[in-house]
Amino acid sequence: MAIDVIIACDFDSAQKTLDFLDLFKGKKPFVKIGMELFYAAGPDIVREIKKRGHKVFLDLKLHDIPNTVKKSMAVLSSLGADICNLHAAGTTAMMRAALEGLTRPDGTRPLLIAVTQLTSTDEETMKRDLLIDKPMAEVVRHYARNAKEAGLDGVVCSPLEAGAVHEVCGASFLTVTPGVRFADGDKGDQKRVMTPAEARKAGSDYIVVGRPITAAADPVAAYERCLREFLEI
Ligand code: C5P
Repeated sequence: MAIDVIIACDFDSAQKTLDFLDLFKGKKPFVKIGMELFYAAGPDIVREIKKRGHKVFLDLKLHDIPNTVKKSMAVLSSLGADICNLHAAGTTAMMRAALEGLTRPDGTRPLLIAVTQLTSTDEETMKRDLLIDKPMAEVVRHYARNAKEAGLDGVVCSPLEAGAVHEVCGASFLTVTPGVRFADGDKGDQKRVMTPAEARKAGSDYIVVGRPITAAADPVAAYERCLREFLEI
């Protein structure tokens, strides 16, 4: 099982992203391309970052009718991303269709993981805005079980729920966890957070870290600190 730190490259242009990655001089961190960058720079940014030798998590969180998601996943699969994702709330039928779309003619495909509940959503907000009246842990476990039944490879969840997901879906079912902050850092809009070391202890396979690295005075040092705290426990 790979364990790694994924940098969320939430920039609004290809140039800013490539300049940022140039800071790493020969190191090839795992990169997450989310909506902001993808909408600004288009599919070419995925090809370019792959060409430079990085692994890419394409975090576009699809959520639509099964047929639309299937066809869109086929397009994303052709870009060479290593991980793609969608919202588990889109139902098991949508997740199955996504897997079909993602599978290339030669039978290979990127890993597919499902967002359970966004790490910016807490139980109170989920209850009030979404009328989901169950404890967060139960909702996350249920969505993870659905994702596993649909044949997916893992979920995006808070590190707070990584252990519960592994309990329900097994050790090899991936937990990719944003909502990671240094002990002395700013939480921003994230509500359910842990430090890199806590996330590892809690069972995260990959942590996704954005602003604590991208907005740091020295992003390379922040990335290395993150790797150290996550890997060396
Ligand atoms: O800057 P920060 O570390 O908060 O970035 C977290 C990244 O992970 C963002 O790109 C955000 O879109 C993404 N994400 C998240 N919560 C999820 C799924 C993805 O924060 N449940």
